[in-house]
Amino acid sequence: MSQSREIKKYSTAQAAAEAIATYMEKLILSDVERFDIALSGGNSPKILFDVLAGKFAKKIFWDNVYFWWSDERCVSPEDNDSNYKMAKEYLLDPLKIDYGHIHRIKGELKPEEASVDYSAKMTKELKQREGFPVFNLILLGMGPDGHTASIFPNQMDILKSEKCCEVSSFPATGQKRVTFTVKLINNADHIIFFVPGSSKQQRIKEIVCEDDQALKFPAYYICPKHGILLFFLDEDSASLL
Ligand code: 6PG
Repeated sequence: MSQSREIKKYSTAQAAAEAIATYMEKLILSDVERFDIALSGGNSPKILFDVLAGKFAKKIFWDNVYFWWSDERCVSPEDNDSNYKMAKEYLLDPLKIDYGHIHRIKGELKPEEASVDYSAKMTKELKQREGFPVFNLILLGMGPDGHTASIFPNQMDILKSEKCCEVSSFPATGQKRVTFTVKLINNADHIIFFVPGSSKQQRIKEIVCEDDQALKFPAYYICPKHGILLFFLDEDSASLL
């Protein structure tokens, strides 16, 4: 597990989201030239995006922030399954983020094409460290099966990938996804797991306490080489810790 790791517990998901926003406010200072953040998808981020676009709209210096995604469903950007579409609705449009600061994964392309295109874009735009682009912050969620981004327990080969992005398949439906690889994620300066809810309590306990069971879960291998890993949990997800 990461040398530098913090487990933060809050009474509710809303309180945890506000704590993440406060943490981001301290990171995204007006004197930084640019701040590159990768967003996750699913439902939990909606709670955080509402806080960022609401109470923190004027507190955070958004002008230098560039938005990326740690994974995307291989669907059009207008599809309700699109992580980009959700972020556009809950965060980017309310904050009036400049189009040039938004780097979405092109879910409408063939999956492999989208993966190669995105890897090339981040390699061009971001500073490199040990052969991988460096994100200032990567926001991640976790599924009840221990997946994170779109790295699933039945596709653990992605843990060994030397690429920035890979194509995976959502196990329940076979839906193709483009996902960051573990090596790219672990190259970030800050990684935040925002994992509220009782459905994740067992996984959180196994991963945080480094049970043998955890070896089966992709989220266990999120371990920044140079940065800090923070878990923002609520009472429900932290109930077994
Ligand atoms: C996605 C996400 C995925 C998500 C987890 C948790 O594209 O679905 O990136 O990894 O973070 O599935 O999702 P919830 O927050 O909806 O539980």
